[in-house]
Amino acid sequence: MQCDYFDSGRCASCALMGVPYAVQLADKHRRCELELADAAPDVVWLDPFASAESAFRNKAKLVVGGRTGAVTLGILDAEANGVDLRACGLHEQPLQQLIPRVAALVDEMGLEPYDVSARRGELKHVILTLSPAGTVMLRFVLRSRRHLALLQSRLPMLLARVPDVAVVSVNLQPEHKAVLEGDTEIVLTSQDVLAMPVNGLTLNLRPNSFFQTNTAVAAGLYRQAQEWMREVSPDAVLDLYCGVGGFALHAAQAAVGRVVGVEVSPDAVLSAERTARELRTGHPDVGDVEFQVGDATDPGALDPDLVRSGRATVVVNPPRRGIGPDLARWLEQSDAAHVIYSSCNVSSLARDLAVLPSYVTRRARLFDMFPQTSHHEVIVLLERR
Ligand SMILES: C[S@@+](CC[C@H](N)C(=O)[O-])C[C@H]1O[C@@H](n2cnc3c(N)ncnc32)[C@H](O)[C@@H]1O
Repeated sequence: MQCDYFDSGRCASCALMGVPYAVQLADKHRRCELELADAAPDVVWLDPFASAESAFRNKAKLVVGGRTGAVTLGILDAEANGVDLRACGLHEQPLQQLIPRVAALVDEMGLEPYDVSARRGELKHVILTLSPAGTVMLRFVLRSRRHLALLQSRLPMLLARVPDVAVVSVNLQPEHKAVLEGDTEIVLTSQDVLAMPVNGLTLNLRPNSFFQTNTAVAAGLYRQAQEWMREVSPDAVLDLYCGVGGFALHAAQAAVGRVVGVEVSPDAVLSAERTARELRTGHPDVGDVEFQVGDATDPGALDPDLVRSGRATVVVNPPRRGIGPDLARWLEQSDAAHVIYSSCNVSSLARDLAVLPSYVTRRARLFDMFPQTSHHEVIVLLERR
């Protein structure tokens, strides 16, 4: 992939830009093999799951800079000045077309960019998520409520000008710190979820819920987990860190037995429950599936009966830090026959596998969710010895 922003030195976010894609994929695969060599000596690696090398990101997280009436949407440079990256080629094509139109609307509405150095201004980030259905969620991250009434009054104009936008929300991030978004979300549209069709399932995404950034690769990842679940045929599936329910709902779709998803974000759980209800409508063969708000690292709170039969599968898909020692200990002491671990950090995966000696890693596969960067997603199938 060629990128003018990278070539001109304006953006160095894509560390592998310019490296042929086949080389990137082979290098990542080799790195993952090496990192897991000690913890998983007998693992069989499946062929890496490749991505499109450009236009694969379903989400644009854009830092707002510049000045009122002439904003930049992109990143900040070392001096905290805005660098405009509105034509970034990582974003899916419809986003590439939409971003300049959103920038023009921000200018027209007179939203004042937040100035990091002066700690002044309002609009910090613009975040767009594209559904495979072509609809979009548009979020404005603001320092305060000062521009809220303005945004509310201009909403009909905004929706008329960018009709693919189905959900608009404001996130309040009052603090001066390098965190993308805050806890308060105010949805401006009557629709508050973005429908994300994946593998014939329609997942529902609320504004502040996590969704994998590469829809095509995420679909492959869920299919892989579903295939392994069908193969090992569990009587129960516990999906920890379930988000909006991608793995759990693919398990329910495969009717593999009772399915329980656990996730810390109440909004994500609401979204997952909604998809479960929709999935059951007209599909009586869909398995028994429920979702709970909970902390996966506090396994004492988990229902031990779920994994007691000796035929259960536990799916874990934690953030970069991995599952940690408490959950690893709980898995060790559980009767779960299989664990499917999907990780965005092969180093924490290797660490976690090393403290799961009761399980042998049978299979592994790299899913290249993040081309042009060294980031990766690896999924492994563990079996109790
Ligand atoms: C990598 S995402 C995976 C989401 C989901 N499995 C998917 O495929 O979209 C990690 C998820 O874990 C959630 N999370 C983070 N810490 C958690 C915890 N201690 N307990 C439960 N969920 C947690 C996050 O809110 C996020 O939804």
